[in-house]
Order: sequence, then C-alpha cells, then structure tokens
Amino acid sequence: MSRVKIARNLLSERLGEVRPSAAIILGSGCGLELDRVHWSLTASNIPGFIAPSVAGHSGHVTSGVFANYEVLLMQGRVHYYEGVSTDRVTFQVRLIHELGIKNIILVSAAGGIRATLNSGEIMLVEGHICAQPLTATNKGRSVYDALWRERVIAACGGLPVSSGVYVWTIGPSYETPAEIVAFERRGGDAVGMSLVPEAMEASALDMHVLGATIITNGAAGLHEQELNHEDVLRAAKAARTNLADVLAKALIQAPQSYRT
Ligand code: HPA
Repeated sequence: MSRVKIARNLLSERLGEVRPSAAIILGSGCGLELDRVHWSLTASNIPGFIAPSVAGHSGHVTSGVFANYEVLLMQGRVHYYEGVSTDRVTFQVRLIHELGIKNIILVSAAGGIRATLNSGEIMLVEGHICAQPLTATNKGRSVYDALWRERVIAACGGLPVSSGVYVWTIGPSYETPAEIVAFERRGGDAVGMSLVPEAMEASALDMHVLGATIITNGAAGLHEQELNHEDVLRAAKAARTNLADVLAKALIQAPQSYRT
C-alpha cells in the first residue's frame, strides 16, 4: 500500500464520522487557534509524513472546529529547498485529497513586491509565476478558485486583504533587488518559496484551491533592511488576527456546491 494510503487510513480512522469542510496548510510562523480541538498528531506519528525541518513549522495535524466549521489543520510544510522530491512536497495535498476533502486553503508568508502591500496584509493568490522550473501538472487552466476568492474578497471589506500574483522561487535564499525588479515587470505582486507546488497538485486533483499569503516584509531592495527568517516569522505571528479573520470568511464563503 502507498504511503499516502497508509496515512489516509490512520487519519480517517481518527476522523471517524467527522467530515472536514476544508483543510488548511499553514506555513512559516503562521498560526491559527481553533475553537475546539478533537485531536492532534505530530508528523512523526503519521507514516510517510516528513516532519518539516525549517524553524516556524511545527509539523502537527489537527482536527477541530473553527468558525463553526470542521477543519483539518496542517501546521508546517516541507519545501523543495529541503532537498526532497516533488512527491514529498505534495504529500499533504494528496493525503487531504484521499480523505475526500475538496476545499484546500494554502497559507504562506511572502515578500511584497507591489508597493501598496504592507506587512501584515493578506494577499489572496489569483495566479502565479514560477521563477524556476517546477515539475508539476497543469491542464492550462487557472489553479486558484476564482469564485471562492472573489466571495472572500467581497466579504473582507475593511480588512487588509487584496488579491494578486504570487511569484514562486525555489529558495532558500532571498531574492536580489534586481530579481524583484524583473518579477515586478513580469506582473508579480508578492514573492515566496512555497504554496505553488501544493496548489498545482491540488488543482490537478480537481480540488478547490484558495491561496492566502501573508505579506511579512517588503521584497528585496524595497526597503533598507536585510531580510531574514526570524523577521519573517515575527511578522507572520503579528498577522495572526488578520489571518484568523480571513480564514473564517474563507470557510463561510466556500460556495455551497463545494461542500458536498
Ligand atoms: N522572499 C521569498 N520568500 C519569502 C519572503 C521574501 O521576501 N518573505 C517571506 N517569504
């Protein structure tokens, strides 16, 4: 039996009758406090799961309730730059799909390229550009669910939320100022090292994908200061209230037809 099916069997046994409305994968420093927790497993207790090795990724899978919806929360992810295969990077997505969950919310941190994006804001991903080759499947269609995203944007009036194009880089180094200028000219609004491989896998599996990226810093060259992971984690943590508000809207606004 494949690793993903072994993990699926374990989690579906733990879920029992519970049918999560959505799965949420959280990235660097991002946190979400659930209203109720049914159970929580560490990555090392789930066969096939790789415990994330990067600071700020706790590696827990939690079943619980948020904003009155059942959710499956995955805290932490692995990145390409950790030297693993595409299969490993997308393992969580395939596991979520195997569990029959159709709605997936991918949360990451990113540097803001668009001048009007401030630290702490959330950008819902409307499209992406890969700065490096990425092995993935795409049927030539948009990866991110436009209906769901537009409903969330409409419901987020007053919150610091917008939509835009995410540029994916393999990392782990930050970009140079010249790269950021080039990305901006190509239509990028924010830049990050995650989210896209998972979004592409989920889309190829016909899931409904909402990408939400927390702007944790101005991209390279936009401000005086140098970039580092600790500042990114701090900024992501500071944006937790905004993130919780947006995720609540996201759960409420998932179209009814996506819930079956
Ligand atoms: N670049 C790439 N990834 C990031 C950044 C950035 O500026 N900030 C948070 N993740």
